Amino acid sequence: MVDRVFWQRRLLVACAFALSCGGAVRARAQEPAAAGPAVRRAVDAVEALLARMTLEEKLGQLAQWAGGTSNTGPSAAAGSEQDIRAGRVGSFLGLYGAETTHWLQHIAVDESRLHIPLLFAYDVIHGLRTVFPTPLAEAASWNTDLAQRTARAAAVEASAHGLHWTYAPMVDIARDPRWGRVVEGAGEDPFLGAALAVARVRGFRGSPADALHATSMLATAKHFAAYGAAEAGRDYNTVDVSERTLQELYLPPFRAAVEAGVDAIMPAFNEIAGTPMHAHRTLVRDVLRGQWAFRGLVVSDYTGISELMVHGIAATPQVATTRALEATVDVDMIADFYLDQLPGLVRTGKLPQKLLDDAVRRVLAAKVRMGLFADPYRHADAARERDNALTPASRALARTAARASIVLLKNERAVLPLKKKLKTLAVLGALAEDAWSTLGAWQAAGLPKDSVTVLEGIRRAVSADTQVVYAAGASPKSADPAGLDEAERTAKRADAVVLVLGESSDMSGEAHNRSTLGLPGAQDALFERVRKLGKPLVVVLMNGRPLAIPELAEHAPAILETWYLGHEMGHAVADVLFGDVNPSGKLPITFPRAVGQVPIYYNHKSTGRPPRAEEVYTSKYLDVAWTPLYPFGHGLSYTTFSYQKPKLSATKLGAGEALTVEVTVKNTGPRAGEEVVQLYLRDDAASVTRPVRTLRGFQKVALEKGASRSLTFVLDQEDFALLDDKLKRVVEAGTFTVYVGGSSSTDNQASFEVSSTTRLPGLGPAIPRMLR
Ligand code: BGC
Repeated sequence: MVDRVFWQRRLLVACAFALSCGGAVRARAQEPAAAGPAVRRAVDAVEALLARMTLEEKLGQLAQWAGGTSNTGPSAAAGSEQDIRAGRVGSFLGLYGAETTHWLQHIAVDESRLHIPLLFAYDVIHGLRTVFPTPLAEAASWNTDLAQRTARAAAVEASAHGLHWTYAPMVDIARDPRWGRVVEGAGEDPFLGAALAVARVRGFRGSPADALHATSMLATAKHFAAYGAAEAGRDYNTVDVSERTLQELYLPPFRAAVEAGVDAIMPAFNEIAGTPMHAHRTLVRDVLRGQWAFRGLVVSDYTGISELMVHGIAATPQVATTRALEATVDVDMIADFYLDQLPGLVRTGKLPQKLLDDAVRRVLAAKVRMGLFADPYRHADAARERDNALTPASRALARTAARASIVLLKNERAVLPLKKKLKTLAVLGALAEDAWSTLGAWQAAGLPKDSVTVLEGIRRAVSADTQVVYAAGASPKSADPAGLDEAERTAKRADAVVLVLGESSDMSGEAHNRSTLGLPGAQDALFERVRKLGKPLVVVLMNGRPLAIPELAEHAPAILETWYLGHEMGHAVADVLFGDVNPSGKLPITFPRAVGQVPIYYNHKSTGRPPRAEEVYTSKYLDVAWTPLYPFGHGLSYTTFSYQKPKLSATKLGAGEALTVEVTVKNTGPRAGEEVVQLYLRDDAASVTRPVRTLRGFQKVALEKGASRSLTFVLDQEDFALLDDKLKRVVEAGTFTVYVGGSSSTDNQASFEVSSTTRLPGLGPAIPRMLR
């Protein structure tokens, strides 16, 4: 007891200081010199504790254990209470619930020798009890404020259920829709990806600095790095990207997350050019911790450390352990390699004690930062849990987010919006009543029974006189055509048809990759039957990735991309179908025409022979156009917008000068609407090749019918800079083109010139200007 009081007092004081002075405990124990007194006190307290720990207790802090499940929900796996008492557990994965976490915390705090509290971690990716749109869907809103609010709401719920730590945001850039994990990220663009990474980190933490509170969660940016570049779109597969592509494409969202104060980074399962990320000293230790000055935790992915043996870079568990710790991976999720191997390695001097101690310091610092030494139970509060589970407010936010995530891909002859007063409306497709699929991958504690399906949403929205008739017709799960006749008969009776097509939610997500990107099962056949009837027809797509659907794009009069929108999916889809809400989403990722075009993305290079139809020896295909089916940034509205030519503050810029781009956007259509105004930049000629355009700004603007607004964007050296052939930052003299419009294919442009070449120091800011 004396023990406990001794150091708890010290840590309590340290916590109070840490909480009141942003940045305090993020400074590492070995770097007190530059820090203020509060930092030093917090650091001293961690040091005092460290000095009292046995080797086994230290290793316990690095061990993350899996939770189990019981009839009543998540519970500790059999025997783990004894391990907590023995100080062999630092954190748990997948255990939540105020009662369960309170109980286990009590064992750690009152019954273990050093009374160190546990961390409870889980994948709260897009909600815990309330399920919001999947991250890819939400990225289509291009609304960082919204993304921050949904992350905040998720953290409020999850923290009330005893959770301290989320394994989100996933900030992997993905250019290959075969890869199932595209559903978890923000799409293909590093600028949009960085903006959403920052928003989500801020939302989960709920705090600008380190003043974490009872509704904060430690945020984790994952999977570091280039996980989305898996060869052939197969999850976990080999990655081999150039240093330039890493720096320009895959790393920026991670660096933005670090600048935004992310607490943890999770290495990816893949290797890059021969080195698996769990052993990647250059990227994890030297770049992340060294160059970027990241002071937080590196948590392995699930058994990522033991998998180093399977990768073939470690013949024994000792080697795998050594390589991971040397790369500064702090927490061993599930593999138990640290627990089992480190005692021998450290005692025999094969691994320096300091490496281990540094990892333990970082775990303790996270616990201090979370305020757990001051109040170990602040996240396990039964009353708060009761009051924060699927509340009307969180459902309302889920509906707002779901509406904003819907993308209108096509709308010929204004088929949409549908009238609510139709006599008979047919809804077809098994996905229309698939509650489970509304939730998408990573449903956490969300339940399908709480979901509003598309069918239900439509039924609730139509007029009392409208008859909604439903037939499943076809399912993504089966090629059986048995339901087609009935579906056709149902459609024949109707004045309009809503056809819900796509993938079930288990067709994307971790390890759920596809080699084709069309509609699975008999859904194509269902579409063919129905379209031939010539009725007003709307296709509602539910899917976790871009689909290659040229037939639909050609023959369906209207297509709504609705992804997986969470618990309020049905309401939100109906809101848009019947025009209560005007769609405003834009694609965060390119839709290909055929899987053979993959990878296809807007910010590609020119090549020496860009595709030209009339020229054989140019970069294209014999059997399909080279262009996307729907480009990045595409999305229509029930109104229309016109853009004036961008006006530039100067056509020639001197060294270090910024440029202001002004553009007037007008709502030229029949109703109010929102437009995502996108700004792209091209460096016309440089010492190395540059993408044909890159996104450098976006603003979402609401305009009444007939209204216009002038928007301003600022571009400066950070936007003009490139990495030269030595990968050093430089702004090179020459001409640039600015494009401003409603998608990445806009031709609305203006040119300017930068008159002199300037080298830029350091890395430059990673957080996009509008969020700095
Ligand atoms: C996934 C991670 C996840 C972890 C814990 C792994 O399989 O790759 O994204 O955070 O499991 O659930």
